[in-house]
Formats: sequence, structure tokens, C-alpha cells
Amino acid sequence: MSLFEKHAVFEKNSIVLLLGILIAVAIGGLVEIVPLFYLKGTIETADGVRPATPLELAGRNVYIREGCYLCHSQMIRPMRDEIERYGHFSLAAESQYDHPFQWGSKRTGPDLARVGGKYSDAWHVAHLTDPRSVVPASVMPTYAFLKEAPVRSVDIADHLKVLKLEGVPYTDEDIANAGADMAAQADPNADVKGLTSRYPKTTVADFDGNPAKVSEMDALIAYLQSLGTFVDFSTYDDKANLR
Ligand code: HEC
Repeated sequence: MSLFEKHAVFEKNSIVLLLGILIAVAIGGLVEIVPLFYLKGTIETADGVRPATPLELAGRNVYIREGCYLCHSQMIRPMRDEIERYGHFSLAAESQYDHPFQWGSKRTGPDLARVGGKYSDAWHVAHLTDPRSVVPASVMPTYAFLKEAPVRSVDIADHLKVLKLEGVPYTDEDIANAGADMAAQADPNADVKGLTSRYPKTTVADFDGNPAKVSEMDALIAYLQSLGTFVDFSTYDDKANLR
């Protein structure tokens, strides 16, 4: 029996054919997937990326709750027009602690991946309160109510715990101090040595301009001001890999 005649076994018996297909697909899959676990280059890290502070995390929750991602992406693509406008293209490592990530797929407004530090806190307060007051042609909705709403703090430590289960490197100390850290970041008079040593590159400010309480606007602006500020891109070649 020649090799070609043996092939008839597969063609005449559907179960044998199915097993043959499964084996062929499994080998193809393994050849593509297994090397990824051993190649160091497939998981790129970036110096400076850190988990969000409790206040930034609370702001991120407001961002998700309000659906900001429906109009804003946080993903700068490696193409010249994007880089000229927004800065260095997004690295996967920059969203490694984001669960879920906020890459988005719709841009009614601009990308926000590097909006941190672009405007003052006061600009953000004015813009969130009434976008038309600073950008007359804006179609962005108003979010003035965020200034009245106290930030949700009861379960912030639990939130850190859950993220830790998902692989975000929060320490037991981070979790124990979550509530205090959240209040401290919005209070320029607080002792923030612990906070800033545990979370480098943390901006401490009364973000919404109302020292009487920590509002959802404080949290959201703390989050926005942190976006894209962790990695020092002066050492990166932003024209590399351009299409
Ligand atoms: C209906 C779509 C829409 C939604 C929802 C929306 N935005 Fe916007 N956003 C825009 C548009 C359009 C602009 C550009 C005009 C402007 O600056 O207001 C913008 C601009 C911005 C800017 C300035 C960006 C820059 O680089 O100039 C920030 C920051 C921002 N939005 C934050 C938010 C946040 C935070 C939320 C959720 C609370 C949000 N947006 C929800 C449409 C939206």
C-alpha cells in the first residue's frame, strides 16, 4: 500500500479525519504559542510604570462609570500623525496594571493616554464643570456634579486587594494604608512621605480647589494628571518602528 492509498483511511472515516485535523491544528498552535512563554522579548517592561494610587484608582472608577472611554481612547498608535499630536506611541507595559485596560476604540474626543500634565488642575475643573467654558465648540457633556459627590472610600482597600489577586503588585502596606493615602493625596498639607515613597511620581494637590472634602472630581483629575507620566520617554526613540 503506497502512502497515498493510506490517505484514503482519513477520507473514508470522518472520526479519523477529525482526529487528524485536531492533531495537525494542535501542533500548529503549539509551534506558535509555546515559544512566547520562553522568549524574554515578548514581555516588554518599561521603567517607571507603577500601580495607580488609591485616589487615582478611585478616579479611574469614575472614568469607567461615566463612560469616558466611549469618547476617548488611551492608545496612541505607532503612526506619524498620532505621535506628532499625542507623543510617544503607547507601550503595552504602560497598561500592564490596568484591569480592565482603557484603550478604547472610539475617538469623539482626543486620545488621553498622555494627557497628564498637559493642563493645570484648574483647567480640568473648568473643563469638566462646563467644557464650553474653555473649548467653545466642545461636544463633551458636563460633569459638574462630580465636584459635589464625595469620593467612594469604604471599599478602596478591598479594590487594591482584588487587583493584587489579579497580579498588580500592591503590598500589604499599600492595602493597609489605602484609605489614608486616598485622603492624603488630595490634601497639600498632609504628611505624604509614606504615600510618595510607596507610589513614586505621585502628584499631591487639592485637585478640585475645594479643601473641605475629597470629591469624585479630585479623584478623576488625579487620575487624568497621572496618565502617561510614568515612563521617561526622553530616552526612547519615538520615530523608531514608524509606519
Ligand atoms: C460625548 C463624547 C465625550 C464624552 C462622553 C467625554 N468626552 Fe472628553 N472630550 C470630548 C471632546 C469632543 C473633546 C474635545 C473638545 C474639548 O476639549 O472639550 C474632549 C476633551 C477632553 C479632554 C481634553 C483633552 C485634550 O487633550 O485636550 C479631557 C481631559 C477629557 N475630554 C476628559 C473626559 C473625561 C474625564 C470624561 C468622562 C468623565 C469625558 N472626557 C467624557 C468628548 C467626550
